[in-house]
Amino acid sequence: MRKSVFTVLGHVTLGTLILAGANSALAADPAQVARGKIIFKDWCAPCHGAGMKGHAGTMALGVKYHGSLPAELSKRTDLTPEMIDFFLRNGVSIMPPFRPTEVTVSDEKDLIAYLTRNSK
Ligand code: HEC
Repeated sequence: MRKSVFTVLGHVTLGTLILAGANSALAADPAQVARGKIIFKDWCAPCHGAGMKGHAGTMALGVKYHGSLPAELSKRTDLTPEMIDFFLRNGVSIMPPFRPTEVTVSDEKDLIAYLTRNSK
């Protein structure tokens, strides 16, 4: 019970952050983008790094989009804060869900700034 209340509150807070993130994506703060790049390297690049070999995420997305979108997540220009939040917290296939104790709410903001830096 306590946990579900916490979860609901977490989502409300996150919703607010995502809205703030969506606005700031237009003019991403360079310091935030730089921090996000480090978070990406730590937590995401083992699977979403450059090259198909040994990078399960890059390989899966390469097959899934078949060249219509970059296989490398950090080269995408279509990612939205909502989409990143969804996959980050829920996981997909072999991608684990990341808890806020691992990738904090503040880390997530930086990560979103990095991954949406080129989004239109
Ligand atoms: C253990 C490997 C692994 C790690 C670590 C990982 N991912 Fe993934 N991720 C995947 C795989 C595989 C897919 C594609 C799954 C599919 O669609 O079948 C994926 C898909 C995604 C997608 C959906 C992209 C799309 O267009 O469908 C997003 C967004 C994403 N990952 C973000 C992240 C972020 C952010 C991190 C770091 C916090 C991360 N991933 C860490 C393996 C991983």
